Amino acid sequence: MNVINLFQEAESTDNTAQINLEILSTNLQTVEKYLLEEAFSEVPLVNDISKHTLLSGGKRLRPLLTILSNKCTEQKSNEDSLIHIAASMEMLHMATLIHDDVVDNSDTRRGKPTASYLYGNTASILSGDVLLAKSMKLLAIYGGIEIIKEVSEAMIQLAEGQVLEIESRGKYQLSTKEYFKIIHLKTASLLSCCCKVGAMLGKSHPNYINALFDYGYHIGIAFQIVDDIIDYQQKKESSGKPMGLDYREGCVTMPLIFARELANDEDKVILTNLFGKNISDAEMNTVNNILTSSGAFDKSKAIANLYVEKACTAIEVLPNNVFKDILLSSAAMVVERTK
Ligand code: IPE
Ligand code: IPE
Ligand code: MG
Ligand code: MG
Repeated sequence: MNVINLFQEAESTDNTAQINLEILSTNLQTVEKYLLEEAFSEVPLVNDISKHTLLSGGKRLRPLLTILSNKCTEQKSNEDSLIHIAASMEMLHMATLIHDDVVDNSDTRRGKPTASYLYGNTASILSGDVLLAKSMKLLAIYGGIEIIKEVSEAMIQLAEGQVLEIESRGKYQLSTKEYFKIIHLKTASLLSCCCKVGAMLGKSHPNYINALFDYGYHIGIAFQIVDDIIDYQQKKESSGKPMGLDYREGCVTMPLIFARELANDEDKVILTNLFGKNISDAEMNTVNNILTSSGAFDKSKAIANLYVEKACTAIEVLPNNVFKDILLSSAAMVVERTK
C-alpha cells in the first residue's frame, strides 16, 4: 500500500483536484517534519528508540486518513493544527507498535529489527509511553478537550483489545464474535478515531463526522483481517514481519476460524496439534497449505472485501471531491496490500 499509488489513481484532469493533490502531498511531508521534531528526546535511549521506529518505514495510514477526512468535508480548519494532529495520531500508532512487538515477541517489523529486539523490552515499553504522552500533549495544544476525549477513548479500546487478545491466546475454539471484538478494539478503534478527529477539527456536520467514523471502522476491520492473512502468507522479505507468528503464538484469527470448519478431518487434527507451538518453517508451510486448500484465505479475503464495500457506502453522503476519491481508493488498497 503506497500513498503515491493512491495519488496516481486519483489523478484527475480537473485543475482544482490537481492543486489539492499537491497540497496533500506537501501536508504529508510536513507530517514527517513534525514527527521528526516531536519525537526527539534528550534522553539518548528514548531518542534512539523513537528514531528507529520513525525511520524504519510505515505507510503513514493514520495521518493520511486524518487529513483526508478533514479535507473531504470541505470545511475550513487551521492547517497547522490539522497537520500536528495528524502527526500526533502517527506517534500514537508508533507507541502501540513498539508495545505490540513486546507483547507478540516479534523480532522484525517493516523488514527491520524491532525496538524490543534491539533495545530490550523495558526500554521499549517506557519509550512507547513517552511517545504516547507526547502524542497527547500535541492533542492538547492543537486539538482541545473534545478531541483528547475521542483519542483517549480509542486508546483505551486499543489497549483493552490487546489485553483481550492476550487473554484469548491458546484458545483454539475462539469464536468469530470474540475475534471481531478483538479486532474492533485493537485496530478499528484507532482508524475510526483518526477519521472522526479529522472531521471534528473542521467542525463538520454530525452526519459527516458519523459517516467518516463508520468508514474508518469498516476499513479498520478489513485492514486487520488482511493483516491476519498476511501474517500467514507472506515471507519476511515482503511483509517485513515473521511468518505465521499468530498461529505459533496461539492467536486464532479469521483464516484459522474458517479452516477449523472447512479442512478435512485429517487436516483438522494437524491444525489442532501444531497450534500454539514453536513449530518449524516446514510445519508452518503445512499449516499454510491446509489453509489455502480449505479455502480459508479466500473466504477471509471475501469478508474483508465486504467491509471495504461497507466503508465506501458509509461515505456516499460526503461531497464528491478528490479527497473522497482517495478515501475510496485507500479502502480498496487495504485489501490489496501485501505489507
Ligand atoms: C500495523 O499497522 C498494526 C495493525 C493495526 C495491523 P500498519 O500496517 O498500518 O503499520 P505501518 O505503520 O504501516 O508499519
Ligand atoms: C496490532 O495487531 C494491533 C496494534 C494495536 C498495534 P498485530 O499484532 O496483529 O499487528 P502486527 O501484525 O504485529 O503489525
Ligand atoms: Mg504484532
Ligand atoms: Mg499483536
